[in-house]
Amino acid sequence: MSGLEREQWSSSLGFILASVGSAVGIGNIWRFPYIVGANGGGAFLIPYLVSVLFFGIPLMVLELAIGRSTGTSIVSAFRSIQQRFTVAGLAIVAVTALVLGYYLVITSWVLAYAFFFILGMPVEFGTFTDSYLPLVFFLISGLAVYITVRSGVKEGIERISRYLIPILIVILLFLVVISLTEPGAAEGIEFYLSPDFSKLTDPGVWIAAFGQTFFSLSVGMGVMLTFGSYLGKERLFKSAGIIAGADMLIAVLAGFMIFPLVFTAGLDPASGVNLAFITLPSAFAKIQYGMLLGALFFLMLFAAALTSAVSMFEVPTATLMDSYGYTRKHAALFVFAAIMLVGLPSALSYTPLNLELLGMPFLDVADYAFGTIGLIVAGLILCIVGGWFMNRDRICDEIGGCGWQQKAYMALIRYGVPAVLLITLIGSFFPGAG
Ligand code: PFF
Repeated sequence: MSGLEREQWSSSLGFILASVGSAVGIGNIWRFPYIVGANGGGAFLIPYLVSVLFFGIPLMVLELAIGRSTGTSIVSAFRSIQQRFTVAGLAIVAVTALVLGYYLVITSWVLAYAFFFILGMPVEFGTFTDSYLPLVFFLISGLAVYITVRSGVKEGIERISRYLIPILIVILLFLVVISLTEPGAAEGIEFYLSPDFSKLTDPGVWIAAFGQTFFSLSVGMGVMLTFGSYLGKERLFKSAGIIAGADMLIAVLAGFMIFPLVFTAGLDPASGVNLAFITLPSAFAKIQYGMLLGALFFLMLFAAALTSAVSMFEVPTATLMDSYGYTRKHAALFVFAAIMLVGLPSALSYTPLNLELLGMPFLDVADYAFGTIGLIVAGLILCIVGGWFMNRDRICDEIGGCGWQQKAYMALIRYGVPAVLLITLIGSFFPGAG
């Protein structure tokens, strides 16, 4: 981009909203509440808070610091630290693109369900995935993400979050209020939050907290690094604290809307795909104004997923621009084509084709391989390259000097965060954990 000024966020608020847009996604609304319910209820908030404060926020600050200090996206940032880390940067971009591939498929189902509820005719998940309709919505969602990123940092990524995040919060608060007045509210909250402190000695619960933190805060994949490269004078710890706080608040609130509805409808709480596309739709079918509430729920979930997908899409786009000289328009078009291809097997795994790998739908395998294992490995690479090989003074410059706090922070990045990522990685190989 020689000769051209690098784009910057238009304001602090714009940056915060875009980052909250990235962090708040499917992970907050359908993953977090269930993990809480299944891992000690209210007691789970302790490991989660520890994990966000000591591992999630530090990694986010590291990414922002590398991005702002090098003024470029992950591959050229890594190259500027040491030539040989170029490949490591490319590996992280690949993981991000692969995660986006299947994340976009789920985003597109959410969009489809929003349509169905708006039209007042919800379709069963089995019927939906027994058609090729999912492919149409996959294309539409891909186009929405592409058009946003193509429009630029300010006009695209920042703008969409400025609209969608406030709308998301209003809908969520409305749904929480409605849910809490449903007859099953007490039972739902009891399942969700009643604390079981004995779970705190279970390592699986801690591993679940770590895994959820990294996924939910969108750290470890170069998204925050890329966002940091568009950043002006911002206090990084403060920004990261606000982003993480908003992410957690929205996740906790999501539980207050979900479980009262599930218990009011007399259903069993489920996780993931089943919760959003089977359990909740049948709950909406049973309660008053269910169609309207369902439409609002899926619109909210779509807003959350879309802004997260946009942030992932920016990583390969910025890479093509910064490291390979593409214009934003060409880069975005190239990434759009690549993501459609990479996501296609996942999209096809929930159509009559039932594409499988190792006896599981391809999408589920992609979620495990890239969204769980890949994400942790990418986070480890980031910590090692940033913590061990980047000039420490450059990081200190970004985080306000080199006092004892910054030294403690560097120790956390060099030893603490990698250790926790390793533990999470090992835990992720055992079923039932993470
Ligand atoms: N944070 C998003 C969620 O909670 O759904 C998912 C995500 C977005 C993960 C961007 C990683 C990422 F780089």
